[in-house]
Amino acid sequence: MDNIAGTPVEGENFFGRSTEVGRLADILRNDDILLLGPRRIGKTSICRAVMAHVKASNWHAIEINVASCEDELAFLEKLHSALAPEMASLGSKIKDKFAATFDAISTRIKSIKIAVTGAGTASVDLAAPASEDWIHLGNDLLRLLMQADQPWLVYIDELPIMLFNMIRNDTPGGVKRVRRFLDWFRNDVRALPGSHSVRWLVSGSVGLDTLVQQHGMADTINSLNHQHLAAFTEDVAIAMLLKLAERYQLALDNEAARKLVAAVQWAQPYYLQKAFHYLRQRVSANLSTNANTATVADIISQIEPAMNDMVQPGSDNDFHHWEQRLALQLGAAQAAHAIALLSLAAQDATGARPENMLIHLEGRMPNDSTEKQREMFINLRDILQRDAYWWPDESSGNKRYRFHLEPLRRWWLRRNSL
Ligand SMILES: Nc1ncnc2c1ncn2[C@@H]1O[C@H](COP(=O)(O)OP(=O)(O)OP(=O)(O)O)[C@@H](O)[C@H]1O
Ligand SMILES: [Mg+2]
Repeated sequence: MDNIAGTPVEGENFFGRSTEVGRLADILRNDDILLLGPRRIGKTSICRAVMAHVKASNWHAIEINVASCEDELAFLEKLHSALAPEMASLGSKIKDKFAATFDAISTRIKSIKIAVTGAGTASVDLAAPASEDWIHLGNDLLRLLMQADQPWLVYIDELPIMLFNMIRNDTPGGVKRVRRFLDWFRNDVRALPGSHSVRWLVSGSVGLDTLVQQHGMADTINSLNHQHLAAFTEDVAIAMLLKLAERYQLALDNEAARKLVAAVQWAQPYYLQKAFHYLRQRVSANLSTNANTATVADIISQIEPAMNDMVQPGSDNDFHHWEQRLALQLGAAQAAHAIALLSLAAQDATGARPENMLIHLEGRMPNDSTEKQREMFINLRDILQRDAYWWPDESSGNKRYRFHLEPLRRWWLRRNSL
């Protein structure tokens, strides 16, 4: 397996998580899934593995990434183009049956698009019924799938980004449209005959849960089965590092791998891949010898410097989004409180006591009542726990909120010091 840290991994490069793939595929037999989690924890990779898994049982599976979609029609366009090659692969009898409808839908999407953008309104296809909107089109497209005699998996990546786009672009109407979209998904789509033959796997990294709670539409995503991706266990993390070490002929043994996992703390494969990358780079650069001849002791001595490399400016793009998503989800004022609390927790690897953090927050909210200050703390505490910034560690006898990801703590600390 290669040391890939960035793009989704597939096949040989997809390590572990086979139980999770099986579990997700199993859930999809009866339910649709919403897989939310922080960036870079391997959502796209595992969803592609799930696609491969169900394809092996004769399902059709398509993937659409809707991060660039600004509205409902763009969503349908994505869906339509992803379906085109699948439609082409259907048996000729079915293909003949569907081809005309499928092409007609394409024409209707184009004509609505022209009408909506206002570009060349004169050339609007008059065959498209004036009252037609994206809902009818979406239903028609899905009805087509539902008539094929095989089950379908539609994987929608980054749906929350599309919904945030819709809200941002349409200040008066965006929220209402998002609700309608989610309602369509939950009610209209399910009411179509044969809807059980199309399963949805939806994933994303910005807080869809916060968005729907804030706008009072949590009910719209309740029908999806909510799933998360846990970090690797220590054993799996070590096994992955040993496999990488073998591939790059680095004399990493069990003990050294354990130390590297301990340095990362939150054994999500991306951060292990990163840590391995920086370690390999350190070993080659600092030992003025071939990395392959480095001893285990040499390698262990480079773990600490490699972890520092990971959080230096230029290498730290991966950490910025942890800060940015706070503003996106919480708005500027609440995000500033969250950042202040995280800065407090970052000062010590073992975290900070909640009592001390509450006192700090009280100082930041002098004009609010004790109840309001407390409510703010509890709300932020839970969001930061849910989104994997920190976890409550009670091993010392006193509860302390500490960072999951040690490199993120170091980065947070570094950016806040002079
Ligand atoms: N099963 C795995 N085995 C090995 N590496 C993995 C695995 N899953 C994820 N990774 C690592 O994590 C990186 C990111 O994976 P992926 O793109 O699937 O995550 P993501 O959660 O979809 O990220 P984003 O939020 O940026 O879309 C990969 O480049 C790889 O380094
Ligand atoms: Mg992804």
